[in-house]
Amino acid sequence: MERTKVIDLLKREDYGAEVNVKGWVRTRRGSKAVNFIALNDGSTIKNVQVVVDVEKIDDEILKDITTGACINVNGILTKSQGAEQSVEIQATAIEIYGPAGSDYPLQKKGHSMEFLREHANIRMRSNTFGAVFRIRHNMAIAIHKYFHEHGFYYWNSPLITASDCEGAGQMFQVTTLDMKNPPLTEDGKIDYSQDFFGSMTNLTVSGQLEGELAATALGAIYTFGPTFRAENSNTPRHLAEFWMIEPEIAFINLKELMDLEEDFIKYCVKWALDNCKDDLQFLNNMIDKSLISRLEGVLKDDFVRLPYTEGIKILEEAIKNGKKFEFPVYWGCDLASEHERFLVEEHFKKPVIMIDYPKEIKAFYMKQNEDGKTVQGTDVLFPSIGEIIGGSVREESYKKLTDRMKELDMELDGYEWYLETRKWGSCPHAGFGLGFERLVLFVTGMQNIRDVIPFPRTPKNAQF
Ligand code: 4AD
Ligand code: MG
Repeated sequence: MERTKVIDLLKREDYGAEVNVKGWVRTRRGSKAVNFIALNDGSTIKNVQVVVDVEKIDDEILKDITTGACINVNGILTKSQGAEQSVEIQATAIEIYGPAGSDYPLQKKGHSMEFLREHANIRMRSNTFGAVFRIRHNMAIAIHKYFHEHGFYYWNSPLITASDCEGAGQMFQVTTLDMKNPPLTEDGKIDYSQDFFGSMTNLTVSGQLEGELAATALGAIYTFGPTFRAENSNTPRHLAEFWMIEPEIAFINLKELMDLEEDFIKYCVKWALDNCKDDLQFLNNMIDKSLISRLEGVLKDDFVRLPYTEGIKILEEAIKNGKKFEFPVYWGCDLASEHERFLVEEHFKKPVIMIDYPKEIKAFYMKQNEDGKTVQGTDVLFPSIGEIIGGSVREESYKKLTDRMKELDMELDGYEWYLETRKWGSCPHAGFGLGFERLVLFVTGMQNIRDVIPFPRTPKNAQF
């Protein structure tokens, strides 16, 4: 008999039909005569109830129908008596695909997130993580749909690279050299000419630089891929391996960049509200009671567009009025997440796009403003998350760009391929990076970024 997924089964009304479902037992309860199995197959947060006449099913099979077991059920679709579901299945035959045993970790409700993280190989089978990963999938679909519908080409930057895009030097090295006995040059340095790629290489911290090349050919592109940062940040917002979406667009200015950032992120949030209702409702009940209203709030409001200098004034004013921050506030400081969250959550009470940052705290490629002090960077700051997007207009002048790189003591040598775009048909262009897990964090209401990626990579942790 053809299998029906639970999500489809729950919509059927052809009572009396013979059906087949397969899935994992969430719970089994009941009396000596009748048992009720809550069965889930991952297609929806909802379970289907399988009603078992104990007399009709072999004892050997019954004893293996415990939480976590995988079973194959034939039965008759019936109208449910209970209020919780519309249909249920009266089992006629049950086969055990895989028993679970009493050491199955997800025995009871209400495990802590830490416990579930230690069992990340199985946590997807919990309601919470099922919901999170269905939403994560939906966000990926929304992103591809948005860009496709808006004339962007999906394009891929390499993951192994010899250049450091963000210039922060937090890269994971890739090498096949013998670490115990590396070849050395005459002056005692490691001889990377003998390494696999003939030069020192790392995992990428951003696909932007290559993305810029593509934008100056295809007009508008986006990447969507893994990104690696060896920063030792043990926070609920940082991963060492995360996914980033990086659109890059020719012929747009700062205002158009901000319009795109806002429109794009609203599209993703609306997609979740429209397409992930059951999962969002579950997370709203179980994880964060203000989740859905926060998502709706983001759609309603125009994002505030705030020059950095104005932001500093607001923060200084707040301090004068008694607000306490852990880190100092002064013009030129890199805002800490407590500052960002104050602006978003307490002062404006809506998302903020901060622009025109001091050049000292931003990357070398950002377009320099006339004042000589600030650059056209844009950070989109979100409630409960802080920075969700980082982007900028790019400096398109060869002279200004290379002058800035020299000021920062950067080796121009490895960047020729990038700088050549500024020599050959340079054009105004801009782009941004959205941290995929930060988006999923916002949309699910989860508290820790480790809980929105299947197997998180963080300092001292690469299990599974
Ligand atoms: O602000 P970032 O560093 O910007 C760039 O990498 C630019 N090259 C993007 C561009 O203009 N094409 O990173 C962009 C976003 C951040 O706003 C944040 O959402 C996310 O990437 N992000 C991280 N997410 C998880 N863990 C980390 N360690 C992250 N670092 C950045
Ligand atoms: Mg940033």
